[in-house]
Amino acid sequence: MKMMRALLAIFFCILLFVPAVIAQPSAPPSANLALTPPMGWNSWNKFACNVSEDMIKSMADAMVKSGMKDAGYVYVNIDDCWQVSRDANANIVADPQRFPHGMKAVGDYIHSLGLKFGVYSDAGSKTCAGRPGGLGHEYQDALQYAAWGVDYLKYDWCNATTQDAKASYANIRAALDASGRPIVLSICEWGTAKPWLWGKEVGGNLWRSTGDIQDRWGGQQKWPDGTCCSNGVLSIIDQEVGLQSYAGPGHWNDPDMLEVGNGGMTDVEYRSHFSLWALLAAPLIAGNDLRDMRPEIHDILTNKEVIAVNQDALGREGERVAKSGDLEVWAKQLKDGSRAVILLNRGATEQSITANWEDLGYPNNVSAAVHDLWSHKDLGKSTEKFSAAVASHGVVMITVKP
Ligand code: GLA
Repeated sequence: MKMMRALLAIFFCILLFVPAVIAQPSAPPSANLALTPPMGWNSWNKFACNVSEDMIKSMADAMVKSGMKDAGYVYVNIDDCWQVSRDANANIVADPQRFPHGMKAVGDYIHSLGLKFGVYSDAGSKTCAGRPGGLGHEYQDALQYAAWGVDYLKYDWCNATTQDAKASYANIRAALDASGRPIVLSICEWGTAKPWLWGKEVGGNLWRSTGDIQDRWGGQQKWPDGTCCSNGVLSIIDQEVGLQSYAGPGHWNDPDMLEVGNGGMTDVEYRSHFSLWALLAAPLIAGNDLRDMRPEIHDILTNKEVIAVNQDALGREGERVAKSGDLEVWAKQLKDGSRAVILLNRGATEQSITANWEDLGYPNNVSAAVHDLWSHKDLGKSTEKFSAAVASHGVVMITVKP
């Protein structure tokens, strides 16, 4: 009798729980995307609206030939201006002159090289360059992107008038997931509605935290027409201070794409720009012409030791840990317990900068091995602190391993 009751109890348990387990909603297709910051290339910073099938294909070729792919760059992203109109069924239409074989052909080519394909649209009625936006067509566009083989969507915020940012980005994420294809969602809202507070919750994989980057070193300036504001590298990093706790695997602060190699900064400044973006766990989206890079630019973009800091599996964003006038120390905890450290000199002359172990979260008496990520040299062991001479606008980037 007892045995019978026990069997009955087990039977009812199974009846109750098995359907509950089966009914669990499965993870969305985007569940495990961008577990480390996305790496790739985007057309905007160098080419703006001058995009075409030929240019994009040759850039994908160059990404492979230059060693960028081997260094970890994978997304080839077409920014604004690929689209011209909607057809009679409201399907988005690519520029037939510039993309004569259509977007799927471009995606197929990119995929044939083992790379991934990104496009751009906008949550409002029009993109920032005045092309048709996604408003009211989110599900239709998502299906179209999936059919083209799109892996990454940058979704801008121009002409969004009274739309709610969080709701708008939740809507496009739901639409992308409903397509069944895993598509990285890059929220390009410029930080206005503090996307770090809700970007993760709505399934955004990265969110812009500032206005557009300009290819220059300095701080924030008004535009010539008096409106706010043009950002150089320094004003962008200042705006990142305090945002570090919002970043993590699958969801990153995005201080905008790289300008390395576009001509507005010195190589010293480009090295600093790249080092800081790596330490900030920023998406590393190159924005230069990969087909004719100078060796110095190539060596910056493909520095594997610096990229390893960016791609560290712990997924911590680095932060400013010390500041004295123009001299700063930035640090990022890595998975093995060591720290990546940047000594940054914003000033006009060479200066000595010191990283104190206490600022890195280590006791003073710890002995730690120091390795230079730009000279690729071991610098021996230090206790308490490490000091180095840092060029004007330059960095010294090291790892400190107890
Ligand atoms: C906005 C974005 C840029 C770029 C342009 C395209 O300014 O922030 O990154 O996509 O639009 O028009």
